[in-house]
Amino acid sequence: MNALNTGHTVAVIGAGAMGAGIAQVAASAGHPVMIYDKAPGAAQAGIAGIAKGLDRQVERGKLDSTQRNAILARLSPISDLKDLAPAALVIEAIVENLAIKQQVLTQVEAICSTDCILASNTSSISITSIAAGLQRPQNLAGLHFFNPAPVMKLVEVISGLDTDPAITDCLLATAGAWGKQAVQAKSTPGFIVNRLARPFYAEGLRLLDEGAADSATLDALMRDAGGFRMGPFELMDLIGHDVNYAVTRSVFDAYYGDDRFTPSLTQQALVEGGRLGRKSGRGFYDYAADAPRAEPARLSAGTQAVVDSIVVEGSLGPADGLIARLQECGIKVIRRDGPGLIRIADSVLMLSDGRMATERAAIESIHNLVLFDLALDYSRCSRIAISLSDQADSSALAPVVALLSAAGIEVSLLDDAPGLAVLRTVAMLANEACDAVLQGVCSARDADTAMQFGVNYPAGPLAWAEQVGLGYIHRTLTHLQQSYGETRYRPSALLRRKAFSGESIHD
Ligand code: NAI
Repeated sequence: MNALNTGHTVAVIGAGAMGAGIAQVAASAGHPVMIYDKAPGAAQAGIAGIAKGLDRQVERGKLDSTQRNAILARLSPISDLKDLAPAALVIEAIVENLAIKQQVLTQVEAICSTDCILASNTSSISITSIAAGLQRPQNLAGLHFFNPAPVMKLVEVISGLDTDPAITDCLLATAGAWGKQAVQAKSTPGFIVNRLARPFYAEGLRLLDEGAADSATLDALMRDAGGFRMGPFELMDLIGHDVNYAVTRSVFDAYYGDDRFTPSLTQQALVEGGRLGRKSGRGFYDYAADAPRAEPARLSAGTQAVVDSIVVEGSLGPADGLIARLQECGIKVIRRDGPGLIRIADSVLMLSDGRMATERAAIESIHNLVLFDLALDYSRCSRIAISLSDQADSSALAPVVALLSAAGIEVSLLDDAPGLAVLRTVAMLANEACDAVLQGVCSARDADTAMQFGVNYPAGPLAWAEQVGLGYIHRTLTHLQQSYGETRYRPSALLRRKAFSGESIHD
C-alpha cells in the first residue's frame, strides 16, 4: 500500500509532548492536521508550542518564514471529537492507560470512515489489547514515535494480532514519506527499542553493583571505547530514574520475570530516595552548579615504564586494529605464531573473551595476565578498560599502561569483572536482538536500524556482533553464563546457530 498522500487529513488526539511533536511532523510533511485534547486550551497551547519551536528554526536559518507559516496554517485545533470525521489517519497520544485509550478510540471509530487508519503512540501497552475493544481491530496499529518526535528519526510501526498488513504497509510508507526511519515490529513487550536497550542499562548497573568501577569511569568507557554518545548512568540520569526503572519493571514483569531484564536495586533506591536524575538535581551525579565534576579513574603510565617494542603472538581477531595503531605510533612489533596475545616486558595482554582474567590466567597458566576490553574502533578510541588477574604481580600493569599511553589511549582499570564493560554490554545487546529476531518480533535489519535511530547507538548491535564475529560474541556469553551461573547470560539459540553455521543473521 502506498503512503497517505498530503491531501489526506491526519488527526492527533492528545496535544502533550508527543502529540504536539507528531502533529508538527505530519504538518511539516504537508498534511492538514487536526489536534484534539480533552483539556480545554491544550490543543491551542500545543500549536503555540510548535510555533515557538518553528520560530527558533527560522532564527537559526533552518526554515524560512514562508515554510513556517505554511506548516502552522495546516494545523487546526478542534474542540469536538466529531470534527475528526474527515481524517484518514488518527493517531492517539493520550495518557498511557488501556481503558482510556480503548474508550477514546471506540468513539473515534464511530465517527470516522470504515477505512480510517487508527494508530496508537503507546510505548508500553499491547496493540492487540487496545484493538480488542474496537469494532474494527484490523484498522489499528502502533505508530511509536520517539521524544522529541520532530527530531528523533525512528518510528516503530507495530502490528497486533488483528492488524491488517495493508495498514502497517501504509504506515511504514507514510512514516518514510515524513522523513522517518520506519521499522516494523510485532506487538510484544517493549516493542524493539525499549526491549533491546535494556542490557545497556542493566550491564552498567551490574558492573557498578559489583564494584567493578564507579559510574563516571563506566560512562567514560562506554563513550570513549564503545562510541556511544552517552554512558548508561548519565543517560539514565537524563531519562529520569522513575521513567527508566518503570520501563525495566514493565518489561521484566511482561516477560514473566526473565532474569535478562531483572531491575536493579540500586536504581530502585534512587527512585525511592527521589534522586531521579537531572530533573531532581541528583541521580548518579550531582547537578548542583557548584558540585564537582565526577572524573573517570585512569592509570598513569609513570616515568619509568617506556615501551618501544612488543611481541604479538597470533591474531588478536577483532582487536587487530590496535596493533596497527601501535605500529603507527612507532612501537616495533615482532610477530610470532600463538593464541592471540601481546607480550610487553613480563606482562601478557589479551582481549577479553568473557572470562575473568583470574580464571583465564589459571586455566592457560599465564603469569601476569592483563585483559583489555572491546572497542568500537581501535584506530580511534581514546580509552580502554583493562583488568588484572589476581595471580599477577601489580607491576604487570605499568608496561601495559605505558604501551597504550604511547598510542594516546587512556587506561581505566576495572576490578576483574568477566567481559569488562563494552564487550559484555555489546554481547548482551546483540543477544537480545538475536532473540527478538528469533521470536519474529522484527527483522535483523530493523533491530539494527531501531537502535541506531531510536537511541543513537554507534552501530546496530547485530551488525556490530557480526563485525567482531558471532563466534566471539557467542563464546563471550557462554563464558559470562559460566561465570555467573545465571540464565541471564544464556546465548540466544539464533546466535548459537549462526555462530556454528558461519552465516549472517541478516540472511
Ligand atoms: P503528556 O502527558 O505530555 O500528554 C498527554 C495529553 O493527552 C495531555 O495533553 C492530556 O490532556 C491529553 N489527554 C489525556 N487523556 C485524554 C483523553 N481521554 N482525550 C483526549 N486527550 C487526552 O503525555 P506524552 O508524554 O505526550 O505521552 C502520550 C503518549 O505517548 C503515551 O501513550 C505515552 O506512553 C506515549 N509516549 C511517550 C513518550 C515520551 O517520551 N513522553 C515517548 C513515546 C511514546
